[in-house]
Amino acid sequence: QTDLEVKQIAQHLPWYGPEYSPHDVPNFYDIAGITENPKVFRKVIDIFVNRYKALGDKGPTRIAGFDARGFIFGPPIAAGLQIPFIMIRKVGKLPGVVATSGEYQTEYSTDESSIRIGSVSREDRVVLIDDLIATGGTALAGIRLVEAFGAEITEFAAIVSLPFMDGVKKIHEFDNGKFKDVS
Ligand code: PRP
Ligand code: ADE
Repeated sequence: QTDLEVKQIAQHLPWYGPEYSPHDVPNFYDIAGITENPKVFRKVIDIFVNRYKALGDKGPTRIAGFDARGFIFGPPIAAGLQIPFIMIRKVGKLPGVVATSGEYQTEYSTDESSIRIGSVSREDRVVLIDDLIATGGTALAGIRLVEAFGAEITEFAAIVSLPFMDGVKKIHEFDNGKFKDVS
């Protein structure tokens, strides 16, 4: 997407100071500014759909979204690409036989993620999508879970990145610089 598009979308991203933030975080970015504006929401979804369509035969075969706000952006992108959407959920919420990530830290919590065994396989190319990356704890847990099944990760994508929280750096420490940053 162009710098102008990034600026236009960023205008629809209010943040709240500590007195109005959940979990007492100093800056809480609220993606409701996007979801409550259909034109901007449509634009965000189209950017991702077009990005992955442009990969042709090398494009993703699965979109994986993170519980809960990744479930807002992932499904319309998967539907646009006509590929399955799969859920990476916090433990204790998925039915069936699941694989779990082990505990990890986020900006304000300790969590554990899970994925249903069978939802992704070694034949898959997977895009992981979330609303926001802060410390990268959540993203990295998802990357590890999907890679454990032998699937290829096309990319991890978030609508918002908080660079001062070093989440992207954490992913690079894990992947030895294999992934490229695109904003
Ligand atoms: C938020 C956000 C990301 C994660 C980012 O989810 O939606 O998934 O935190 O933080 P990190 O980079 O430090 O891991 P949260 O766990 O609060 O769940 P929610 O979507 O249910 O609010
Ligand atoms: N998830 C983790 N950190 C966050 C933040 N600062 N704003 C919104 N969502 C978040």
